[in-house]
Amino acid sequence: MVETMRWEDETLFLLDQTKLPHVITYLSCQDYPDVKKAIQKLVVRGAPAIGAAAAYGLALGMLKSRGVKFNAPTAQEFYHQAQTIAWELSDARPTAVNLSWALNRMLATLKSAVDNAPASLNINDLRSTLLAEAKAIYQEDLEGNKRLGRLGQTLVPAGAKILTHCNAGALATAGYGTALGVVRAAAAAGKKISVFASETRPLLQGARLTTFELLQEEIPVTLITDGMTGFLMARKMVDLVIVGADRIAANGDVANKIGTYNIALGAREHNLPFYVAAPVSTLDLNLNNGQDIPIEERDPYEVTHFVGKKVAPCGVKVWNPAFDLTPGQYITAIITDRGIVHPPYNKEKWQRLTNPSP
Ligand code: MRU
Repeated sequence: MVETMRWEDETLFLLDQTKLPHVITYLSCQDYPDVKKAIQKLVVRGAPAIGAAAAYGLALGMLKSRGVKFNAPTAQEFYHQAQTIAWELSDARPTAVNLSWALNRMLATLKSAVDNAPASLNINDLRSTLLAEAKAIYQEDLEGNKRLGRLGQTLVPAGAKILTHCNAGALATAGYGTALGVVRAAAAAGKKISVFASETRPLLQGARLTTFELLQEEIPVTLITDGMTGFLMARKMVDLVIVGADRIAANGDVANKIGTYNIALGAREHNLPFYVAAPVSTLDLNLNNGQDIPIEERDPYEVTHFVGKKVAPCGVKVWNPAFDLTPGQYITAIITDRGIVHPPYNKEKWQRLTNPSP
Protein backbone atom coordinates (compact mmCIF):
# COMPACT_ATOMS: atom_id res chain seq x y z
CA MET A 1 0.00 0.00 0.00
CA VAL A 2 1.26 3.53 -0.72
CA GLU A 3 2.34 5.53 2.33
CA THR A 4 -0.07 8.23 3.55
CA MET A 5 2.78 10.40 4.78
CA ARG A 6 6.54 10.33 5.14
CA TRP A 7 9.06 12.42 7.08
CA GLU A 8 12.32 13.02 5.28
CA ASP A 9 14.98 15.77 5.35
CA GLU A 10 13.02 18.01 7.72
CA THR A 11 10.06 17.87 5.33
CA LEU A 12 6.65 16.25 5.64
CA PHE A 13 5.58 14.53 2.43
CA LEU A 14 1.83 13.97 2.20
CA LEU A 15 0.27 11.66 -0.36
CA ASP A 16 -2.05 13.97 -2.31
CA GLN A 17 -5.33 12.09 -1.88
CA THR A 18 -7.23 14.61 -3.98
CA LYS A 19 -5.44 13.17 -7.02
CA LEU A 20 -6.07 9.48 -6.28
CA PRO A 21 -6.66 6.98 -7.74
CA HIS A 22 -5.12 8.04 -11.04
CA VAL A 23 -2.09 10.04 -9.93
CA ILE A 24 0.22 9.09 -7.06
CA THR A 25 2.10 12.18 -6.00
CA TYR A 26 3.38 13.61 -2.72
CA LEU A 27 2.98 17.20 -1.58
CA SER A 28 6.04 18.46 0.26
CA CYS A 29 5.26 20.56 3.34
CA GLN A 30 8.10 22.85 4.40
CA ASP A 31 6.33 24.57 7.27
CA TYR A 32 3.19 24.22 9.37
CA PRO A 33 0.92 26.47 7.22
CA ASP A 34 1.50 24.03 4.34
CA VAL A 35 0.27 21.21 6.59
CA LYS A 36 -2.77 23.20 7.69
CA LYS A 37 -3.70 23.95 4.09
CA ALA A 38 -3.21 20.28 3.14
CA ILE A 39 -5.59 19.19 5.91
CA GLN A 40 -8.18 21.76 4.86
CA LYS A 41 -8.02 20.71 1.21
CA LEU A 42 -8.19 16.98 2.09
CA VAL A 43 -4.77 16.25 0.63
CA VAL A 44 -4.53 14.32 3.88
CA ARG A 45 -7.84 13.21 5.39
CA GLY A 46 -9.37 10.65 7.72
CA ALA A 47 -9.35 11.31 11.46
CA PRO A 48 -6.16 9.47 12.54
CA ALA A 49 -4.18 10.68 9.50
CA ILE A 50 -5.25 14.27 10.22
CA GLY A 51 -3.98 13.85 13.81
CA ALA A 52 -0.63 12.42 12.73
CA ALA A 53 -0.16 15.09 10.05
CA ALA A 54 -0.94 17.86 12.55
CA ALA A 55 1.60 16.40 15.00
CA TYR A 56 4.25 16.47 12.27
CA GLY A 57 3.04 19.97 11.36
CA LEU A 58 3.76 21.20 14.87
CA ALA A 59 7.20 19.53 14.89
CA LEU A 60 7.87 21.12 11.50
CA GLY A 61 6.74 24.56 12.67
CA MET A 62 9.11 24.41 15.64
CA LEU A 63 12.00 23.19 13.47
CA LYS A 64 11.42 26.03 11.02
CA SER A 65 11.19 28.53 13.86
CA ARG A 66 14.96 28.17 14.00
CA GLY A 67 16.38 31.61 13.48
CA VAL A 68 13.16 32.97 11.98
CA LYS A 69 11.02 34.17 14.84
CA PHE A 70 13.64 33.99 17.59
CA ASN A 71 17.24 32.89 17.70
CA ALA A 72 17.89 31.88 21.27
CA PRO A 73 14.56 31.36 23.01
CA THR A 74 14.28 30.06 26.51
CA ALA A 75 12.56 26.72 26.95
CA GLN A 76 9.42 28.56 28.17
CA GLU A 77 9.41 30.84 25.11
CA PHE A 78 9.81 27.78 22.92
CA TYR A 79 6.79 26.19 24.62
CA HIS A 80 4.66 29.30 24.14
CA GLN A 81 5.62 29.43 20.47
CA ALA A 82 4.58 25.76 20.14
CA GLN A 83 1.25 26.56 21.80
CA THR A 84 0.63 29.30 19.24
CA ILE A 85 1.36 27.00 16.31
CA ALA A 86 -0.79 24.24 17.82
CA TRP A 87 -3.62 26.74 18.20
CA GLU A 88 -3.29 27.75 14.55
CA LEU A 89 -3.32 24.13 13.39
CA SER A 90 -6.19 23.09 15.64
CA ASP A 91 -8.98 24.66 13.59
CA ALA A 92 -7.89 23.19 10.24
CA ARG A 93 -10.95 20.92 10.38
CA PRO A 94 -13.46 20.84 13.25
CA THR A 95 -15.00 17.37 13.44
CA ALA A 96 -12.18 14.81 13.82
CA VAL A 97 -11.12 14.97 17.47
CA ASN A 98 -7.82 13.26 16.59
CA LEU A 99 -6.56 16.67 15.48
CA SER A 100 -6.78 18.30 18.92
CA TRP A 101 -5.93 14.98 20.60
CA ALA A 102 -2.59 14.79 18.74
CA LEU A 103 -1.75 18.47 19.28
CA ASN A 104 -2.55 18.26 23.01
CA ARG A 105 -0.39 15.16 23.33
CA MET A 106 2.48 16.96 21.58
CA LEU A 107 2.16 19.97 23.89
CA ALA A 108 1.96 17.80 27.03
CA THR A 109 5.17 16.00 26.06
CA LEU A 110 6.90 19.29 25.34
CA LYS A 111 5.67 20.78 28.63
CA SER A 112 7.11 17.94 30.63
CA ALA A 113 10.45 18.26 28.76
CA VAL A 114 10.46 22.01 29.42
CA ASP A 115 9.54 21.63 33.10
CA ASN A 116 12.30 19.10 33.60
CA ALA A 117 14.83 20.87 31.38
CA PRO A 118 18.38 21.16 32.75
CA ALA A 119 19.91 24.65 32.83
CA SER A 120 22.22 23.65 29.99
CA LEU A 121 19.30 22.71 27.74
CA ASN A 122 19.84 23.08 24.04
CA ILE A 123 16.65 24.17 22.26
CA ASN A 124 17.38 21.63 19.55
CA ASP A 125 16.71 18.93 22.15
CA LEU A 126 13.15 20.25 22.45
CA ARG A 127 12.79 20.17 18.67
CA SER A 128 13.93 16.54 18.74
CA THR A 129 11.45 15.78 21.53
CA LEU A 130 8.59 17.11 19.39
CA LEU A 131 9.66 15.21 16.31
CA ALA A 132 10.04 11.98 18.30
CA GLU A 133 6.53 12.43 19.70
CA ALA A 134 5.05 12.97 16.21
CA LYS A 135 6.78 9.80 15.04
CA ALA A 136 5.42 7.94 18.07
CA ILE A 137 1.86 9.11 17.33
CA TYR A 138 2.23 7.87 13.77
CA GLN A 139 3.75 4.52 14.76
CA GLU A 140 1.25 3.88 17.56
CA ASP A 141 -1.63 4.51 15.17
CA LEU A 142 -0.25 1.96 12.75
CA GLU A 143 0.22 -0.66 15.48
CA GLY A 144 -3.16 0.17 17.05
CA ASN A 145 -4.94 -0.37 13.74
CA LYS A 146 -3.39 -3.80 13.34
CA ARG A 147 -4.57 -4.70 16.85
CA LEU A 148 -8.03 -3.29 16.13
CA GLY A 149 -8.16 -5.30 12.91
CA ARG A 150 -7.26 -8.54 14.67
CA LEU A 151 -9.92 -7.95 17.32
CA GLY A 152 -12.57 -6.79 14.87
CA GLN A 153 -12.20 -9.65 12.45
CA THR A 154 -13.53 -12.03 15.13
CA LEU A 155 -16.94 -10.39 14.50
CA VAL A 156 -16.81 -11.13 10.78
CA PRO A 157 -18.19 -14.50 9.66
CA ALA A 158 -16.46 -16.42 6.86
CA GLY A 159 -17.77 -15.38 3.46
CA ALA A 160 -19.33 -12.17 4.85
CA LYS A 161 -20.41 -9.43 2.49
CA ILE A 162 -19.48 -6.15 4.13
CA LEU A 163 -20.77 -2.66 3.39
CA THR A 164 -18.45 0.26 4.19
CA HIS A 165 -18.79 3.99 3.60
CA CYS A 166 -16.20 6.68 2.87
CA ASN A 167 -12.60 5.58 3.39
CA ALA A 168 -11.47 4.36 6.79
CA GLY A 169 -8.47 2.54 5.40
CA ALA A 170 -4.70 2.81 5.32
CA LEU A 171 -5.10 6.13 3.53
CA ALA A 172 -7.13 7.59 6.41
CA THR A 173 -4.61 6.54 9.05
CA ALA A 174 -0.90 5.90 9.55
CA GLY A 175 -1.53 2.60 7.78
CA TYR A 176 -3.67 -0.56 7.73
CA GLY A 177 -6.89 1.32 8.49
CA THR A 178 -9.73 1.01 10.98
CA ALA A 179 -12.87 -0.26 9.18
CA LEU A 180 -10.66 -1.50 6.35
CA GLY A 181 -8.20 -2.81 8.96
CA VAL A 182 -10.96 -5.20 10.07
CA VAL A 183 -11.60 -6.09 6.42
CA ARG A 184 -7.87 -6.67 5.81
CA ALA A 185 -7.54 -8.83 8.91
CA ALA A 186 -10.62 -10.90 7.98
CA ALA A 187 -9.20 -11.43 4.48
CA ALA A 188 -5.81 -12.36 5.95
CA ALA A 189 -7.56 -14.90 8.18
CA GLY A 190 -8.80 -16.60 4.98
CA LYS A 191 -12.45 -15.66 5.49
CA LYS A 192 -13.12 -14.97 1.81
CA ILE A 193 -15.03 -11.77 2.51
CA SER A 194 -16.15 -9.24 -0.07
CA VAL A 195 -16.94 -5.55 0.21
CA PHE A 196 -19.49 -3.08 -1.10
CA ALA A 197 -18.05 0.46 -1.12
CA SER A 198 -20.49 3.37 -1.34
CA GLU A 199 -19.09 6.19 -3.44
CA THR A 200 -19.43 8.93 -0.77
CA ARG A 201 -20.68 12.06 -2.43
CA PRO A 202 -19.55 14.77 -2.73
CA LEU A 203 -15.80 14.05 -2.58
CA LEU A 204 -15.96 10.36 -3.52
CA GLN A 205 -13.65 8.89 -0.90
CA GLY A 206 -15.40 5.54 -1.34
CA ALA A 207 -15.19 5.50 -5.14
CA ARG A 208 -11.66 6.90 -5.36
CA LEU A 209 -9.89 5.63 -2.25
CA THR A 210 -11.61 2.58 -0.75
CA THR A 211 -11.85 0.78 -4.09
CA PHE A 212 -8.21 1.74 -4.83
CA GLU A 213 -7.02 0.21 -1.56
CA LEU A 214 -9.08 -2.97 -1.86
CA LEU A 215 -8.15 -3.58 -5.49
CA GLN A 216 -4.49 -3.24 -4.52
CA GLU A 217 -5.02 -5.85 -1.79
CA GLU A 218 -7.01 -8.07 -4.16
CA ILE A 219 -10.00 -8.05 -1.81
CA PRO A 220 -13.20 -8.32 -3.90
CA VAL A 221 -14.99 -4.95 -3.96
CA THR A 222 -18.13 -3.66 -5.67
CA LEU A 223 -18.71 0.07 -6.03
CA ILE A 224 -22.23 1.45 -5.53
CA THR A 225 -23.62 4.97 -5.26
CA ASP A 226 -24.78 6.23 -1.87
CA GLY A 227 -28.44 5.97 -2.83
CA MET A 228 -28.13 2.22 -3.42
CA THR A 229 -27.31 1.19 0.14
CA GLY A 230 -30.94 0.79 1.32
CA PHE A 231 -31.88 -1.43 -1.60
CA LEU A 232 -28.66 -3.43 -1.15
CA MET A 233 -29.70 -4.20 2.42
CA ALA A 234 -33.32 -4.89 1.47
CA ARG A 235 -32.11 -7.36 -1.15
CA LYS A 236 -30.04 -9.16 1.56
CA MET A 237 -26.89 -8.64 -0.47
CA VAL A 238 -24.88 -7.59 2.57
CA ASP A 239 -24.33 -9.24 5.98
CA LEU A 240 -22.88 -6.41 8.05
CA VAL A 241 -21.72 -2.79 7.96
CA ILE A 242 -18.37 -1.45 9.21
CA VAL A 243 -17.50 2.25 9.14
CA GLY A 244 -14.90 4.50 10.77
CA ALA A 245 -15.46 7.51 13.04
CA ASP A 246 -14.30 11.10 13.36
CA ARG A 247 -15.44 11.55 16.94
CA ILE A 248 -17.23 9.32 19.43
CA ALA A 249 -19.09 10.84 22.39
CA ALA A 250 -19.34 9.09 25.77
CA ASN A 251 -22.83 7.69 24.99
CA GLY A 252 -21.54 6.10 21.76
CA ASP A 253 -22.94 8.72 19.37
CA VAL A 254 -20.63 8.75 16.36
CA ALA A 255 -19.77 11.52 13.93
CA ASN A 256 -18.64 10.06 10.62
CA LYS A 257 -18.82 10.88 6.92
CA ILE A 258 -22.15 12.22 5.71
CA GLY A 259 -24.33 9.29 4.69
CA THR A 260 -23.29 7.05 7.60
CA TYR A 261 -26.54 7.76 9.45
CA ASN A 262 -28.66 6.72 6.45
CA ILE A 263 -26.80 3.40 6.38
CA ALA A 264 -27.25 2.92 10.14
CA LEU A 265 -31.02 3.45 9.72
CA GLY A 266 -31.09 0.87 6.95
CA ALA A 267 -29.05 -1.60 9.00
CA ARG A 268 -31.48 -1.25 11.91
CA GLU A 269 -34.50 -1.76 9.67
CA HIS A 270 -32.95 -4.87 8.12
CA ASN A 271 -31.48 -6.30 11.35
CA LEU A 272 -27.88 -6.10 10.18
CA PRO A 273 -24.95 -5.59 12.55
CA PHE A 274 -23.63 -2.04 12.30
CA TYR A 275 -20.05 -1.76 13.58
CA VAL A 276 -17.87 1.31 14.09
CA ALA A 277 -14.09 0.82 14.10
CA ALA A 278 -11.90 3.55 15.61
CA PRO A 279 -8.84 3.95 17.83
CA VAL A 280 -9.40 5.31 21.34
CA SER A 281 -7.81 8.58 20.14
CA THR A 282 -11.18 9.19 18.41
CA LEU A 283 -13.08 9.16 21.74
CA ASP A 284 -14.19 12.50 23.14
CA LEU A 285 -15.23 11.82 26.72
CA ASN A 286 -15.72 15.55 27.31
CA LEU A 287 -18.94 15.18 25.35
CA ASN A 288 -21.80 13.26 26.91
CA ASN A 289 -23.55 12.92 23.57
CA GLY A 290 -23.04 13.70 19.92
CA GLN A 291 -25.17 16.84 19.77
CA ASP A 292 -22.18 18.99 20.75
CA ILE A 293 -19.84 17.54 18.12
CA PRO A 294 -18.99 20.34 15.68
CA ILE A 295 -20.04 19.27 12.19
CA GLU A 296 -17.95 20.74 9.41
CA GLU A 297 -19.84 22.46 6.61
CA ARG A 298 -17.84 22.70 3.40
CA ASP A 299 -17.87 24.82 0.27
CA PRO A 300 -21.11 24.62 -1.79
CA TYR A 301 -18.86 24.17 -4.82
CA GLU A 302 -18.34 20.52 -3.79
CA VAL A 303 -22.07 19.89 -4.29
CA THR A 304 -22.79 22.10 -7.30
CA HIS A 305 -19.86 20.60 -9.20
CA PHE A 306 -19.01 17.01 -10.02
CA VAL A 307 -15.32 16.32 -10.70
CA GLY A 308 -14.84 19.97 -11.56
CA LYS A 309 -17.88 20.25 -13.86
CA LYS A 310 -20.83 22.40 -12.85
CA VAL A 311 -23.93 20.23 -12.59
CA ALA A 312 -26.40 22.42 -10.65
CA PRO A 313 -28.12 25.60 -11.85
CA CYS A 314 -26.47 28.91 -10.98
CA GLY A 315 -27.73 30.48 -7.78
CA VAL A 316 -29.14 27.30 -6.20
CA LYS A 317 -28.97 27.18 -2.40
CA VAL A 318 -26.70 24.41 -1.05
CA TRP A 319 -26.20 22.70 2.31
CA ASN A 320 -22.98 20.71 2.55
CA PRO A 321 -22.34 19.09 5.96
CA ALA A 322 -19.31 16.82 5.66
CA PHE A 323 -20.35 14.54 8.54
CA ASP A 324 -23.46 13.26 10.27
CA LEU A 325 -24.31 11.76 13.65
CA THR A 326 -25.28 8.16 14.25
CA PRO A 327 -26.88 7.58 17.67
CA GLY A 328 -25.04 5.11 19.88
CA GLN A 329 -28.13 2.91 20.19
CA TYR A 330 -27.90 2.08 16.48
CA ILE A 331 -24.36 0.74 16.85
CA THR A 332 -23.98 -3.00 17.50
CA ALA A 333 -20.40 -2.62 18.78
CA ILE A 334 -17.50 -0.18 18.67
CA ILE A 335 -14.23 -1.88 17.78
CA THR A 336 -11.21 -0.09 19.23
CA ASP A 337 -7.49 -0.78 19.49
CA ARG A 338 -8.04 -1.61 23.18
CA GLY A 339 -11.03 -3.90 22.85
CA ILE A 340 -14.56 -4.28 21.54
CA VAL A 341 -17.22 -2.29 23.36
CA HIS A 342 -20.91 -3.23 23.33
CA PRO A 343 -23.90 -1.07 24.33
CA PRO A 344 -24.85 0.56 26.56
CA TYR A 345 -21.96 2.97 25.96
CA ASN A 346 -21.07 5.23 28.88
CA LYS A 347 -18.13 7.17 30.29
CA GLU A 348 -17.28 4.59 32.96
CA LYS A 349 -17.04 1.82 30.40
CA TRP A 350 -14.73 3.90 28.20
CA GLN A 351 -12.60 4.87 31.18
CA ARG A 352 -12.19 1.21 32.16
CA LEU A 353 -11.08 0.52 28.59
CA THR A 354 -8.59 3.36 28.35
CA ASN A 355 -7.23 3.16 31.93
CA PRO A 356 -7.52 -0.48 32.99
CA SER A 357 -6.74 -0.93 36.69
CA PRO A 358 -3.51 -2.87 37.26
O1 MRU B 1 -13.70 14.11 5.10
P1 MRU B 1 -12.82 12.92 5.38
O2 MRU B 1 -12.41 12.19 4.16
O3 MRU B 1 -11.66 13.28 6.27
O4 MRU B 1 -13.76 11.93 6.22
C1 MRU B 1 -13.23 10.73 6.66
C2 MRU B 1 -14.20 9.88 7.41
O5 MRU B 1 -15.32 10.24 7.64
C3 MRU B 1 -13.66 8.58 7.96
O6 MRU B 1 -14.68 7.61 7.98
C4 MRU B 1 -13.16 8.79 9.40
O7 MRU B 1 -12.30 9.90 9.47
C5 MRU B 1 -12.46 7.60 9.91
S1 MRU B 1 -10.91 7.33 9.15
C6 MRU B 1 -10.18 5.98 9.86
